[in-house]
Amino acid sequence: MASEFRSKVSGIGSYLPEKVLTNFDLEKLVETNNQWIVERTGIERRHMASPEEATSDLAYKATLKALDMANLKAEDLDMIIVATVSPDQIMPSTACVLQSKLGCRNIFSFDLSAACSGFVYALSVADQFIRTGVYKNVLVVGAEVLHRFVNYKDRETCILFGDGAGAWILSRTSNQDENIIFSSHLHADGNLGDLFVLPAGGSKIPFSEAVLKAESQYVKMKGREIFKNAVRTLTDCCHEALAANNVNPNQVDWLVPHQANLRILESVADHFEFPKEKVIVSLNETGNTSAASIPLAFDLAYQEGKIKRGQLILLAAFGAGLTSGSILLRF
Ligand code: UT7
Repeated sequence: MASEFRSKVSGIGSYLPEKVLTNFDLEKLVETNNQWIVERTGIERRHMASPEEATSDLAYKATLKALDMANLKAEDLDMIIVATVSPDQIMPSTACVLQSKLGCRNIFSFDLSAACSGFVYALSVADQFIRTGVYKNVLVVGAEVLHRFVNYKDRETCILFGDGAGAWILSRTSNQDENIIFSSHLHADGNLGDLFVLPAGGSKIPFSEAVLKAESQYVKMKGREIFKNAVRTLTDCCHEALAANNVNPNQVDWLVPHQANLRILESVADHFEFPKEKVIVSLNETGNTSAASIPLAFDLAYQEGKIKRGQLILLAAFGAGLTSGSILLRF
């Protein structure tokens, strides 16, 4: 029997740290220049957490805004998922730290690791708990302080990444409601895991002096291969979501893709035969904020008045793993 419950997005919020690192600032750190970065990536600046800020602090600020929009209090929440690859520490989870900061009840809270696809993965998990009727209000956050895992001597990665957080509250509604999450499709190809890695700090390569010497506490990336894979998987994810819902591209109001590189987004729009004006882009301001990128881009576009209530929106993500996924929803 089909479930009578569905998830609606009752609140959204985001937070960008105050400090900004521009392309011109990066020119002073590595051999690069503003023109190359803008032409090859579309990124102009990215935000950086202050030394006092950890991932849970960014998540907390984004969550307060989402709670306010949903007209809910922290005690109304039934579950918290924080999608992140830059947690405050390995344990306890950033979700538990956030739960304590918010002053919630003793609710189910955990981190989800799917890199840049983390937010889409987490929304899908939250949606399952709501569809089954188990929970009523679930907080899903994508939050990262990635700059602490980036080597500012590696010009291929340091130009890309930034910090930020985006939070959504999913609330239970009836399947008669039109503003709901329709579907999620998630994928992973672990065979391509070595294209983007953070080698040290886990059980395989614990921290040691050798780690610091080899600088393996920082992300390492095969950019060109990721680029090609990203275009293919994002395009496939878009087609898959629309085919499953019997929807045409022209019925979709906005595509909100993972914000990695403007050329990736333009190429996906070409392959998907989707108008570029209907692709939300915020990477010029934020850089690649991994799990935070989709909810950040969504909230910035909402604040700008582009995304409006009642619109049909397609989220599409790819990231380390390699992971990928899509969500189709009416906001
Ligand atoms: O969320 C997933 C995370 N990762 C990604 O999304 C990364 C996806 N990949 C990319 O965005 C692009 O591949 C990059 C932006 C990383 C690189 O751009 P590209 O157009 O693929 O450059 P490339 O690797 O083909 O390199 C072209 C040239 C090389 O010089 P040579 O060998 O032609 O002399 C690079 O050394 O550009 C050079 N280069 C740079 N030059 C100035 C690489 N990085 C820089 C830089 N500034 N920052």
